[in-house]
Amino acid sequence: MKKQENNIRHLQATLSGIIAGAQQHYMHATINKHRGFNKLSDRMMHENAKEMAEAARFIHRIIDLGGIPDVQFEKWPVHMNIEEQLKVEYQEQLMALQVLNKIIASIEDDNVTKQIFQDYIADEAGHTQWLKQQLDLIESIGLKNYLSNQI
Ligand SMILES: [Fe+2]
Repeated sequence: MKKQENNIRHLQATLSGIIAGAQQHYMHATINKHRGFNKLSDRMMHENAKEMAEAARFIHRIIDLGGIPDVQFEKWPVHMNIEEQLKVEYQEQLMALQVLNKIIASIEDDNVTKQIFQDYIADEAGHTQWLKQQLDLIESIGLKNYLSNQI
């Protein structure tokens, strides 16, 4: 029972972060759409959709375990500057991966929950790699050239 309560708590805490991240991607995607950077916006909106799908899996699992998915949502910063958006999201991703790795190691006797976390961390690793790639591109071809490919 104690283990199950711990797993519910991990799911709830992570759900709060997933929704916060999804909201941030949504805000950045919409800001960039407003300015006509449609390609970048579409990619960010795709990340938002993936995060929301993950959030649904977490909500279902919390309910299955007898918990309530009524969590306090964190507020993550929104940036107007595109390079800043990418940098901040990348730093947040790195921190999230660290936390997720610790959580996965602490989940006991619940392979379904563990699998949900493992699928989520695999998704996040892909997202982190994409953000790093964008920052590397900006460094190698310059911000103007990068942005001219995002219209
Ligand atoms: Fe993400």
